[in-house]
Amino acid sequence: MTGAQLDDAEKWSLDELRAHQLKQLRETVAAAYANVPHYRNALDSAGVHPEDIRDLADVRLLPFTGKADLRDNYPFGMFAVPRPQVVRVHASSGTTGTPTVVGYTQADIDTWADLVARSLRAGGVRPSDVCHVAYGYGLFTGGLGAHYGAERLGCTVVPMSGGQTAKQVQLLRDFGARAIMVTPSYFLSILDEMAVQGIDPAGLPLQIGVFGAEPWTDAMRTEIEQRAGIDAVDIYGLSEVMGPGVAMECVETKDGPTIWEDHFLPEIIDPITGEPVEDGAEGELVFTTLSRQAMPVLRYRTRDLTRLLPGTARPAFRRIAKITGRSDDLMIVRGVNVFPTQIEELTLEYDGLSPYFQCVLSRPGRMDELTVNVEAAEGFPQEQWSVVEERLSRDIKERIGTSARVTVLPVGGIERSIGKARRIVDNRPK
Ligand code: DLL
Repeated sequence: MTGAQLDDAEKWSLDELRAHQLKQLRETVAAAYANVPHYRNALDSAGVHPEDIRDLADVRLLPFTGKADLRDNYPFGMFAVPRPQVVRVHASSGTTGTPTVVGYTQADIDTWADLVARSLRAGGVRPSDVCHVAYGYGLFTGGLGAHYGAERLGCTVVPMSGGQTAKQVQLLRDFGARAIMVTPSYFLSILDEMAVQGIDPAGLPLQIGVFGAEPWTDAMRTEIEQRAGIDAVDIYGLSEVMGPGVAMECVETKDGPTIWEDHFLPEIIDPITGEPVEDGAEGELVFTTLSRQAMPVLRYRTRDLTRLLPGTARPAFRRIAKITGRSDDLMIVRGVNVFPTQIEELTLEYDGLSPYFQCVLSRPGRMDELTVNVEAAEGFPQEQWSVVEERLSRDIKERIGTSARVTVLPVGGIERSIGKARRIVDNRPK
């Protein structure tokens, strides 16, 4: 422990936690059944009644919820309370047109702030800190979720949002932030801007980066920690289940986000069969909310692939391993499964390459082809690019098993994002 106070739940025994979860699960299922027509129909069709939930394993009797269910009930059909009791909505942009909407009662908003405050504390942030929030504010849950949590902890919050990179650097320096909350990919752009302005990040008061909203690897953690002289910790969450703060990595262990299991019941399933897999095996992460009022979700399929690991810094709460990727981001190239995180790990081994890369999928003939575009590091001589292209391509073949063409691009050659990085460009004919 790092000397900060823990919430009571963080100190629970496993028995206390499981008893609490069962009580909350039964209440959640009963409320969803009574108040959300979608859940009443889904449970009736599955032949399950809330009274059938007698122990925690009975969660498996419940039907899954998917993004499509939220879309089908657009905009407010998934709410379990009268609309006037919903004090805030967030929505995901959605690639297909219809956004997915989530709603919060005042109690939900309070729980969310408490859990983000708990997360920040676990990450090493303290009430007296200046906390710079560079997640986007708006319908995205990142900015406001981070903001109210940092306020709840007692920080001085700088609601910078994403973009205006030169100003980010100016305020980080002038306001002396000790913590920053931002996507890891945008933080790289902020570090580049510091270099342009001749500012050494190690000379700033900045000590902690709370990074999430997109997959990032331990190799990226090392890269960021070394360049910035900070601790980089992983915050996980998704709008449908709450927003940031569903799980958070403890700074003293840095061994994957601890799930705040007093509010969220996790499962890992086989993404194809939907059957549960045992703890420790990789599969799709599924959550049932245990305290949400406005929009309880039962067995929500996150599409995130990871493993459930035993608790460490908070012994009763399980952890997730770093997310390998979303099932939507799985690239199948000539029969071989590849995730952008695997490419990230390899490219970061090359001193001559920057951490900016993109996977481009095309189908020139009948087969899919993968091209990895990766930016050269500042000052890496162009004569050596082709050697690196060949070597990285060979590494990808040997260590991931797929053929890929590698193209090194000049500095600035890969588009920058101010939020979630776009790692895959799919140019295949639809
Ligand atoms: O990204 C919430 C969030 C904001 C989390 C800020 C952390 C920090 P959505 O936009 O709904 O919500 O996207 C959720 O982002 O299912 C994962 O695929 C991915 N994701 C979020 N956090 C992580 C993480 C927010 N720490 C989706 N590691 C999730 C890997 C993450 N992937």
